[in-house]
Parts: sequence; C-alpha cells; structure tokens
Amino acid sequence: MYEDIKNGNDRILFFSGSNHSASINQLVVSHLAKTIGQDQANTIHLKSFPSPVYSLEDEQTTGIPDKITELVDLLDQFDKFVVAVPEYNGSVPGFFKNTLDWISRARKNYRVFQNKKIFLIAVSPVGGGSFALKHAGDILRRLGAEILGEQTIGNFNPSQFNGDIDKSEFFSELQGMAYSISDHFYKTK
Ligand SMILES: Cc1cc2nc3c(=O)[nH]c(=O)nc-3n(C[C@H](O)[C@H](O)[C@H](O)COP(=O)(O)O)c2cc1C
Repeated sequence: MYEDIKNGNDRILFFSGSNHSASINQLVVSHLAKTIGQDQANTIHLKSFPSPVYSLEDEQTTGIPDKITELVDLLDQFDKFVVAVPEYNGSVPGFFKNTLDWISRARKNYRVFQNKKIFLIAVSPVGGGSFALKHAGDILRRLGAEILGEQTIGNFNPSQFNGDIDKSEFFSELQGMAYSISDHFYKTK
C-alpha cells in the first residue's frame, strides 16, 4: 500500500501553515514527503507566497496578489495534500488564515479545496496543537476540503535531537504517520 504511493504517480502536495524559516511544522512535512517518496518539488514553503493583510478595499483596487495567484495555480494541480499547522494562542497563525482568506478570493468559487483531500497535522513544542488542528480543519472544510485524517505531535523540540529526525524519539511515530497517510490516500483513490 505504502509502496503503491511511493512508486506510483500519485502526487501529494506537502506544506505547513508557518512562515518561519526554521518551522517545526515545515520540518515534519518535509520529512514525511521524503519518507513517502514524494518528489522534492511537492513540498512547498508558504513563506515563498507572501501576501499583505487581506483587505476588501485592496482586493477591489489592486486585485489578487501575484503570489496568491501563483499559489492557487499550484494547488489546482493537486488533489491530495498533507498540511501541518502551528498553534498560535489556541488557533492557527494569522499568516495561515490570511493566506487562506486570499486564496478563497482567487477563483469565482471560494471553495478552492473542493474535491480535494487533506491529511492534517499540528506540531507543537509543548503539549498542544489540538486547537490549531480543529480550527484549521473547520476552515479547510469550509473551503471544500475533505479531511481524511488528523494527528498532533506534541513536545517536538529539534534542539533535543540536533534537527536530525532520524535520530529522534519521533522517528518511529513519523514512520507510522507516513504509513497512515499512504493508507488514507490509497483507500480513497
Ligand atoms: C504568538 C504565539 C502563540 C503561540 N501559542 C501557542 C499555543 O497556543 N499552543 C501551542 O502549542 N504553542 C503555541 N506557540 C508555540 C508554537 O507552537 C511554536 O512557536 C511553534 O514552533 C510554531 O510552529 P512553527 O515552528 O512550525 O512555526 C505560540 C507561539 C507564538 C509565536
């Protein structure tokens, strides 16, 4: 099942809801993409698609930012996603919500994730992540996505394993998660 995705042509897009270059959520999605055998180009950093704080006035005067159009064009090419969201104050980061607000305006229909499946993760350096997971799921479902599975990873601190996940206590948990993701996507093919 896992090999099916690894060897097949079944592309999954991986990204996190963080704009931090040393993001732990980005670290985890990159690791999962590599484990599942996805092409490196299928992991993107949302930081590369910056946009101003959403304003209806700005949208009416200057339109959708070029980077958002570029991002939505890319999302259109996939129907399977693994998304990891940081938790900020019991919710998702403003950066992530702002990006979603913009992309919901980029097409005639705001449901830009219609017919798309997402496996959702929240990685936190403390015990949390469940609020981010819930809020992100609610928003992504509103934009049309089907959430296939979800998981939090708590107490994730890369300084404790020098950033090398392979040598960390999370290695086997992440291997299991890679299998679970493959399993979810395989079953719904
Ligand atoms: C403004 C702010 C609020 C935060 N609130 C929470 C929180 O509610 N729950 C939590 O588990 N972590 C919280 N954190 C810690 C983040 O989970 C931590 O910074 C994490 O590394 C962010 O993910 P990233 O590295 O992928 O960007 C907060 C961090 C910031 C900067």
